[in-house]
Amino acid sequence: MIDKWFRKNKVDRSSIDDRVNELKKRGVPAHVAIIMDGNGRWAKRRALPRVAGHREGMNTIKRTTKIASALGVEAITLYAFSTENWKRPRKEVEFLMKLPKELLHTYLPELIEQNVRVEMIGHREGLPAHTLESIDYAIEQTKQNDGLILNFAMNYGGRAELLEATKAVAKKVAAGDYSVDAIDESLFERELMTTHLPDPDLLIRTSGEVRLSNFLLWQLAYAEFIFTDVLWPDFTEAHFLDAVEEFQRRDRRFGSVEGKAHI
Ligand code: IPE
Ligand code: IPE
Ligand code: MG
Repeated sequence: MIDKWFRKNKVDRSSIDDRVNELKKRGVPAHVAIIMDGNGRWAKRRALPRVAGHREGMNTIKRTTKIASALGVEAITLYAFSTENWKRPRKEVEFLMKLPKELLHTYLPELIEQNVRVEMIGHREGLPAHTLESIDYAIEQTKQNDGLILNFAMNYGGRAELLEATKAVAKKVAAGDYSVDAIDESLFERELMTTHLPDPDLLIRTSGEVRLSNFLLWQLAYAEFIFTDVLWPDFTEAHFLDAVEEFQRRDRRFGSVEGKAHI
């Protein structure tokens, strides 16, 4: 199944395969969060409209899903539309809202075949009904799958998520479900949109920007960050494997002194 896909997409399967096998021997990140950035610049460099970059970026989503699955990653969360992206020109926003349908219409059978489970985080309110319909349909059709979780962050904002969680906790305190003193990290995390997922081990941002842009502010507390200049439409399987390899070289101490780099 995977072989067929790599052949169709003319990827040198043997070298990818070897690298996947090598990387699998060392710890693979369970959850990879990705800020898919640089679509607009990719298009501009080709004198194309910005939306051409967004369309091309869908191929990268397919590549990334495939390689993450092959590696045995449990979940990838893709930042597809932020709560701040409403500031973009209306035409671009409309295009972005139609992309889930465009992507999933043709891609869903492949996702089902690959045992991928589609999920979404973000604020449903504000998203057009047709956008939610396409995503919900994919979620429904793949909910039995137990392979990679392909989690789209759509109309997502870290601060809004934290405010929502805080309100939910406050309401439960007011209702007498638990006391203020009982509030701890695990209780708070239950109110986050990612409550069923492990925290991301690795964050990748493409396009050279070095910021979080309001992505997963709580969950990325101890993630390893990898920023690459490659624009999202140009991001390949090899780039993903490079990031995982770099991740494996990092010394994650979580505040302790154990590990390679202590003195
Ligand atoms: C990322 O690419 C896609 C979204 C934010 C939806 P951009 O559209 O931000 O591309 P640049 O940063 O303008 O190149
Ligand atoms: C972050 O990219 C949001 C997504 C990738 C969906 P932006 O391009 O919107 O972020 P800024 O404006 O550079 O911070
Ligand atoms: Mg951008």
